[in-house]
Amino acid sequence: MNVYDSEQILRVLSPLGYEITSFPGAADLIIVNTCAIRGKAEQKAFSFIGRLAGLKRKKPELIIGVGGCVAQQEGRKILEKIHYIDLVFGTQALNRLPGHVMDIAVRRCRIADIEMSPEIIEFSPGAPVVNGNITRFVTVMRGCDNYCTYCVVPFVRGREISREPENIINEIRGLVETGVQEVTLLGQNVNSYGKKEGLCSFSALLKLVNEIEGLFRIRFTTSNPKDLSEELIFAFRDLEKLCGHIHLPVQSGSNSVLKRMNRKYTRELYLDKTDKLRKALPGIAISSDVIVGFPGETDKDFEETLDLVRKVEFDSLFTFEYSDRTNAPAAQFSGKIPGNEKNKRLRMLLELQEYYNAKNNRALVGTTELILVDGFSKKHNPVNGQDGFSGVQWTGRTSTNKIVNFVDADTLSGDGNLLGKRIDVMIEKAFLHSLWGRPVNVKPMPLKMKGEESYAA
Ligand code: 5AD
Ligand code: SF4
Repeated sequence: MNVYDSEQILRVLSPLGYEITSFPGAADLIIVNTCAIRGKAEQKAFSFIGRLAGLKRKKPELIIGVGGCVAQQEGRKILEKIHYIDLVFGTQALNRLPGHVMDIAVRRCRIADIEMSPEIIEFSPGAPVVNGNITRFVTVMRGCDNYCTYCVVPFVRGREISREPENIINEIRGLVETGVQEVTLLGQNVNSYGKKEGLCSFSALLKLVNEIEGLFRIRFTTSNPKDLSEELIFAFRDLEKLCGHIHLPVQSGSNSVLKRMNRKYTRELYLDKTDKLRKALPGIAISSDVIVGFPGETDKDFEETLDLVRKVEFDSLFTFEYSDRTNAPAAQFSGKIPGNEKNKRLRMLLELQEYYNAKNNRALVGTTELILVDGFSKKHNPVNGQDGFSGVQWTGRTSTNKIVNFVDADTLSGDGNLLGKRIDVMIEKAFLHSLWGRPVNVKPMPLKMKGEESYAA
């Protein structure tokens, strides 16, 4: 969501003449878009802001703004604590940002704007930000009304509110015109899309997006298991552009923890929904989020989480140690779990999940997968061969959201551009977090991988 919001920040500031630079030292304006979801994210934001002090000393006219969820939560306190910050703006102040930046540039004042409003922010129609990416995020709704007891989102992002389908479709059409082929629709709980406002259902929205010409793939996140509807489950079967992957955060496998988290579903309901998804679309990949060490979580509760992970055999799992958040009710709960115990549980969970990562990835070795090439692989840049490779290493994703890296014989010179190409690759090796493939019908190149151990037979 912050990636999308950062793009909107660029969009509203570009009419003032601002452009992106990758050199902080060259910037006239630095905006830090913060996340407050867990304690660590907030600490990272403040340590990043701390590193900007030197830049401001060297260039006093530099404007530094702090936006996003930490800004919403802390407001004016940030201005009081950090003397070189000029602007603090909350999650619902994006469209007022240009006015604030102009005010500061002209009057050198300091501004805090964390006003919340019940209206959805719609930016005036206009050219979308073009950044060369093949896959993009599109927010379909903002805020959340669920009030899970550990979560800060309802307090910093406000009440749930949905965008009109027409605005969403127009935005995606605009992106497709610039070369985008895949969109991920974003909302804290997409299942309640449009309900409050009497708009169409989320499944109906997906059908509309599915009809957009030139768009290749659709993903969405996040769906709350409690109201994952049958209609949405069948969308995986019926909509050819909807990818075969769902992120369905479970948070815990223990009913008593789920109750205290206010998640409003049971482990049984979760297992039932994942069964139904697999019946509707055999081979669908399922990923999830799990919090360990929620206040009062016993060894038995944690064992039930491990048991659920064994039952579902997730394709991937995002695991977090519980952290207290301002305003979230669980911060006041008794039975806090000590840090070393949370860490021990996290490591046990990660170790178990690694087994399923390897197992699920290994099952793909020998199959042919259609991938959308979305860039160069992380480890290998196109400038020269590294780690035993003598060419360009590309990366793409399968419909099930698995990362596939490969070298294409035709692009060894570095001349061929595969960005945005939809190609078939034969999966040759499986790693914990990625696959290695070979484009079919292209002469194989000799491979020499360093680093990760291969799980291939
Ligand atoms: N502590 C730890 N993890 C949290 N998450 C949300 N709030 C907290 C918290 N207070 C995790 C949840 C959520 C993911 C985005 O972050 O697993 O799904
Ligand atoms: Fe937070 Fe729960 Fe809303 Fe997700 S559904 S954003 S965890 S309150």
